[in-house]
Amino acid sequence: MNINAKTGIAANETAEMLVFYLYEESKKINETLEPFDTSFNHIISELLKNKEFVAKLNNTYTLPTYGKFPSQRIMLVGLGKKEEVTIDKIRQAAATSVKTARDMGIKKVTSVMDSIEIPSQKSFEWYQGFIEGAVLGLYQFKKYKETKPDEEKEMKTLTLLLSDKKVLSFVKEAIKRGQVIANAVSFARDLVNTPSQDKTPTILSNIAKNLANEPGIDCKILSMPDLKKLNMGGILGVAQGSTQPPKFIILEYNPRSKNQDTIVIVGKGITFDSGGICLKPPKNMDQMKSDMSGGATVLGIFSALARLKIPQHVVGLVPCTENMPSGSAIKPGDIVKFHSGKTAEVANTDAEGRLILADALSYAEKFHPDAVVDFATLTGACIVALGNIATGMMGNNEELINRIKTAGEKSWERVWELPLWEEYQELIKSDIADIKNTGGAGAGTITAACFLSKFTEKYPWVHLDIAGTSWSEKNSAYIQKGATGVGVMLMLELLKNWKTFPKKHS
Ligand code: BES
Ligand code: ZN
Ligand code: ZN
Repeated sequence: MNINAKTGIAANETAEMLVFYLYEESKKINETLEPFDTSFNHIISELLKNKEFVAKLNNTYTLPTYGKFPSQRIMLVGLGKKEEVTIDKIRQAAATSVKTARDMGIKKVTSVMDSIEIPSQKSFEWYQGFIEGAVLGLYQFKKYKETKPDEEKEMKTLTLLLSDKKVLSFVKEAIKRGQVIANAVSFARDLVNTPSQDKTPTILSNIAKNLANEPGIDCKILSMPDLKKLNMGGILGVAQGSTQPPKFIILEYNPRSKNQDTIVIVGKGITFDSGGICLKPPKNMDQMKSDMSGGATVLGIFSALARLKIPQHVVGLVPCTENMPSGSAIKPGDIVKFHSGKTAEVANTDAEGRLILADALSYAEKFHPDAVVDFATLTGACIVALGNIATGMMGNNEELINRIKTAGEKSWERVWELPLWEEYQELIKSDIADIKNTGGAGAGTITAACFLSKFTEKYPWVHLDIAGTSWSEKNSAYIQKGATGVGVMLMLELLKNWKTFPKKHS
């Protein structure tokens, strides 16, 4: 979709569809709508008065202009109550307008931005959010469907209509940023929605290599012999049941700016999680193609870093393997030895994510990171605790935890902290190895993070459990059933405002 901005007056615009945004319980009609209301004998005021149209979030109402105006139709889109508006609601309303128009077969939409009444101190974020919502609202995963050209409905152009010339260049900048970010999220969604057969560790690492075609991005792939040399027993152990060889993706973005920090982002890259010998039940097992969502988040972020000119040194690490049962698979009771030298008893082969992350997290030390953030669909228990609304957060550094919480609220990819108290660490003690990979019946999300914490002692670290937030069971305004691409917007928000991380004096 082509997105542009221009200045002009709604009543003089020639558009297939002119969109106006309205707040609920607003006393008077927005002045951008007045000329339309007046020439239609106050029909819009009547609709609102009779509550035939209530401007609740995502409510829409379409009217033809019967040739009274150069535009063919107008659409009213609800934003909800003005005092309750958030960036998420702006995204939703933008998504609803373009989606509704697309489903009517319309190809060109003009949004009357003044009707949103954007407060000046929030304007950049709101314009950017509007674009993110519009692009993500139109996201579809159609690669595996037969497409009939005559049934194809596609939005071709979105125009943002403004009255103030002074903001035009700044709005164009927000459009660019919003598009880069939404495309990065869509890229992550595509990877997660792709069936496992078409995203084996080898294929994923080739996709990562392609990202390095962009200037400023480097990519290195570790294969079996490298993993053996590095004693990465966690990744090798999980991979030994699969016919697909494991890969370890290393991406690096180094803008060499002054005083840059090094931030390492790690993503779980299980391209299919059958559970291994501790086989999962068949119900919803197909969803386990999404067990590389953390890895997809990392790749999504890397697709945007250079375009957004992020002035930090960012490293992405994605250990990739399938988790399969077979004659050669790792067994309950086996002990693996990690890159760090620590050992773990494999109590359950389905708790494989922490095994591959353990190797990746200690490998991260090599980059002397100022901060490390990992994304992983790590535990079903996180879905029980937080549903698909919040990402579970645990970490060892308050400053990093607070920064991620703020970025989560700003990007509306919200996180919620769970405690990593010492008492929980007791639960992963093993009789015969340093630790074991399960912690019993309770606090599954926390004991998984406890396991990771044994490999992250040398740097500030936050773990984000995205088991619930990376996948959606239903369609909503800008998230479709399936992959959400969670984490991309959060992390790009965090990196945008990154301030030199306070160094510990030792
Ligand atoms: N990939 C799963 C977690 C998961 C479950 C993600 C559902 C998304 C949706 C993970 O590898 C796993 O199987 N974890 C086990 C751990 C248990 C055996 C300690 C779990 O959560 O049941
Ligand atoms: Zn598992
Ligand atoms: Zn898993």
